[in-house]
Amino acid sequence: MGQDLFSLAGQVALVTGASKGLGLAMAEAMAEAGAAVVLNGRTAATLDARVKDFAARGLKASTAPFDVTDADACRKAVVDVIARHGKLDILVCNAGNQHRKPLIEWDLDAWHNLMNTHLTSAFVLGQAAARHMIPRGTGRIIMIGSVMSLLARPTVHGYTAAKSGLWGLTRSMAAELGPKGINVNAIAPGFFVTDMNTALVENPEFKSWIEKRVPLGRWADPRELGGAAVFLASKAGSYVNGHLLSVDGGIVTSL
Ligand SMILES: NC(=O)c1ccc[n+]([C@@H]2O[C@H](COP(=O)([O-])OP(=O)(O)OC[C@H]3O[C@@H](n4cnc5c(N)ncnc54)[C@H](OP(=O)(O)O)[C@@H]3O)[C@@H](O)[C@H]2O)c1
Repeated sequence: MGQDLFSLAGQVALVTGASKGLGLAMAEAMAEAGAAVVLNGRTAATLDARVKDFAARGLKASTAPFDVTDADACRKAVVDVIARHGKLDILVCNAGNQHRKPLIEWDLDAWHNLMNTHLTSAFVLGQAAARHMIPRGTGRIIMIGSVMSLLARPTVHGYTAAKSGLWGLTRSMAAELGPKGINVNAIAPGFFVTDMNTALVENPEFKSWIEKRVPLGRWADPRELGGAAVFLASKAGSYVNGHLLSVDGGIVTSL
């Protein structure tokens, strides 16, 4: 294996929610490791601009604009990626959103939106990818969970339930797909500076609480998630299956 341990040369990866934030950072890291990455998000023009940036750096990328809450669009996107590239080796289910309200103010539409965006989309895309990966006897599926897959905070009810469900789905898929040569794992990021967390970063009290609460003493940069995704997608992660990899500066293991 040697220096090829973390290489993704010749691999095709679909990353949802890769127009910015953690998805973009993971797609960049995988492209730097040699993968041809397919960037998803809802706006074609934004994705086109990202692909241009990638190409300028000699990185292989293309786009797959679709809304992950549209199950038919998810299935079609997987078929299209396979038609375009001949295969799909790596699926990263990362697209996500947030909704913060006291419990009694939550309405059912918001609940369903969180569930559809994080959890149902991962089921649909994972199933579509598995249909292709099972006959090939190989593949990697990576679910982007959260600290909230394991812990909880007030107001983020749909998010916490969906991310906990995603960790459950990771385990059930790993149990069923492992014997077919497909590794299914999750990453649980801690607190990263992205658009999703703007309200938290701009709240001085919360910002400094995180700095005190995280053993590493700071918020994370999105680029600090790339290595975990490359690891789980590469030969280096060949015997890792059904695992939740925390990338959180130590927050879930300390009080
Ligand atoms: N930031 C953190 O600290 C943190 C911690 C733990 C877990 N996470 C998880 O990491 C993932 C990425 O979060 P982030 O912080 O990078 O957020 P972000 O900067 O807000 O990016 C969210 C991404 O998801 C895409 N997206 C949202 N809804 C979508 C939909 N219905 N269909 C397709 N794409 C959709 C967005 O694309 P468009 O808007 O361009 O469509 C964007 O690319 C999420 O699952 C989040 O829960 C983040």
